[in-house]
Amino acid sequence: MLTVLKETLSLFDRAEKLELALVFVIVLTVATLEVVGIASILPFLTVVSNPEMIHEQYVLRYLWGLLEPSDHNSFLFTLGLIVFGLIILTNLFNAVSHWLIQRFIWLRHHSLSTRLLDRYIRQRWEFFLNRNTSELSTNILSEVQQFVGQFLMAGIQLLAQGLAGVLIVGLLVAIDPTLAVIVSAVVGGTYMLIFVAVRATQIKLGHIRTSSNTARYRHATEAMSGMKDLKILGLEEAFLRKYEGPSYRYSMAQAKNAVIAITPRYFLEVLGFGAVMLILLYELRQQGTASNAIPVVGVYAFAGFRLLPKMQQMFYSGSSMRFTAETLSGLKRDLVELQRSEEPAPVHVSAPIESFGLRNVTFNYPEMGEPTLKNVNIEIATLSSVALVGPTGSGKTTTVDLLLGLLEPTSGGLVLDGNLLSASERIGWRSHCGYVPQQIYLTDDTIAGNIAFGESADEWSMERIKKAAQIAQIDEFIEQELPEGYLTVVGERGVRLSGGQRQRLGIARALYNDPEILVFDEATSALDNTTERAIMDAIEQLAGTKTLVVIAHRLETVRKCDIIFVFEKGELIDSGCWDELLSNCDVFRSMVSEDSMGKGRKPNQTATP
Ligand SMILES: Nc1ncnc2c1ncn2[C@@H]1O[C@H](COP(=O)(O)OP(=O)(O)OP(=O)(O)O)[C@@H](O)[C@H]1O
Ligand SMILES: [Mg+2]
Repeated sequence: MLTVLKETLSLFDRAEKLELALVFVIVLTVATLEVVGIASILPFLTVVSNPEMIHEQYVLRYLWGLLEPSDHNSFLFTLGLIVFGLIILTNLFNAVSHWLIQRFIWLRHHSLSTRLLDRYIRQRWEFFLNRNTSELSTNILSEVQQFVGQFLMAGIQLLAQGLAGVLIVGLLVAIDPTLAVIVSAVVGGTYMLIFVAVRATQIKLGHIRTSSNTARYRHATEAMSGMKDLKILGLEEAFLRKYEGPSYRYSMAQAKNAVIAITPRYFLEVLGFGAVMLILLYELRQQGTASNAIPVVGVYAFAGFRLLPKMQQMFYSGSSMRFTAETLSGLKRDLVELQRSEEPAPVHVSAPIESFGLRNVTFNYPEMGEPTLKNVNIEIATLSSVALVGPTGSGKTTTVDLLLGLLEPTSGGLVLDGNLLSASERIGWRSHCGYVPQQIYLTDDTIAGNIAFGESADEWSMERIKKAAQIAQIDEFIEQELPEGYLTVVGERGVRLSGGQRQRLGIARALYNDPEILVFDEATSALDNTTERAIMDAIEQLAGTKTLVVIAHRLETVRKCDIIFVFEKGELIDSGCWDELLSNCDVFRSMVSEDSMGKGRKPNQTATP
């Protein structure tokens, strides 16, 4: 119980903890008011059933002296008004506390999900290689909601009902200890028994809920993002079945848990009626006459009317918490523990004057035994154009990711004009690099918005957008063929672009911030030969104004590069210009001859969007 509280508090900042404390105070006030309201019934009922008691009972005698009523009836009327006032006040506070609790809960939904997204996007690149991204979205969009809407809400309710329950039982003990102990033992004991009995089942259901929720999100996301493959391979049925399983399990777990949570209610009515009968008999025996027994029985009836639903709600809250307990550990893992593995804040570094590169770099992907790169040394002169070539899996992309400062070398480091960069400088370094991947990711935005990626319409510079488009040689297409020019919407809901157009848009995006270094990782590999040639021409236009780093499958495309680095099995085995390599490097020679025999060449294909 205490660890649950501690773990929950660890998710909140100072202001949120203070707000939670305020919620606690309000909840306590409501509980106290409620008990005072119930207690005030006793003198009222005593006067109704037995007017002589006014002068015998201390509290009544005191009130009589205070109010100085003209007769019994007006005394009764005043007492009634006081009880009435208390009930109004209680309900007023109840409404306020309801608002405060709901506000607290839903603002935590906002703050926790925002913080979670913040945690994720600040992780190192390696993190995203290991985690399923749809699982991350599930956590942000669904698990946070389950946590606040069910777990946290249930926790606060449990607290509220628990406090009120304890105070009410306290009141009953004050009126008649023996009776109170017997009644609470019977009613409370029944609840505890059921609560303990369903424990294992609920924990199991909670586990099914978590895992099936992640799975159904994953299958839905995968179906949507792989729609083209899905259609061509005719996998509609297969994907549907994949989704159906976890979706069914998720729904069944919710349904079963909902039933468990209200089971005791069926016992409750039986129990409640039995209890009132018992109390009546007991009081009749104790007090002798019905009129003496009525006040106590009345208070019990009223207390029961308030207490029994509370016990039911406590049970409900307790079982909700149990069912969604895994959301707490999941959130704690990702919100609190991931904080330690965030990237450091970037530190600005100036652009290289002479060269940059990798020094003695060895790199291991997490959880991989063998290092992927072994002792790689690369020096790239500024404004030169270089190529990375080698068989598939030889480590070219890994090298580029290290050059971009995305990956952190296991040993060795990124060097700028001979100086080794620190981790923070490595992140600052990225602002000098532009990157064009094999597949451009287009957002559901205008052409302009896709070029000025991440900037909104009032931030971007149309002049720079047009200049980038012009260098990438897509300006004519945009201006002449698209209905609304740079403001034409592309992506999900907008016009479809061909592979070559997408790639050019990607180049324009990389150029928009005018970086000193441009990296192309197989940026033209998905294109047919003619389009590839056109795009390579556009890239070659940049030679001499930017430092270019190109990875290309087809060697012919990098013939004009100043230096070609040859990779094999994670090692840099040779480097030099085309002709040097052709005469000195066996591996390169055989790659070139394979390439010209057409093995590395693809047939003219229509580029896929
Ligand atoms: N996220 C990863 N986790 C573990 N191993 C990886 C990961 N990414 C790549 N590797 C491994 O590292 C090696 C080098 O991969 P890399 O992507 O750098 O090769 P590449 O030369 O770019 O190949 P290709 O020409 O096919 O793109 C491969 O053996 C690959 O299996
Ligand atoms: Mg690669």
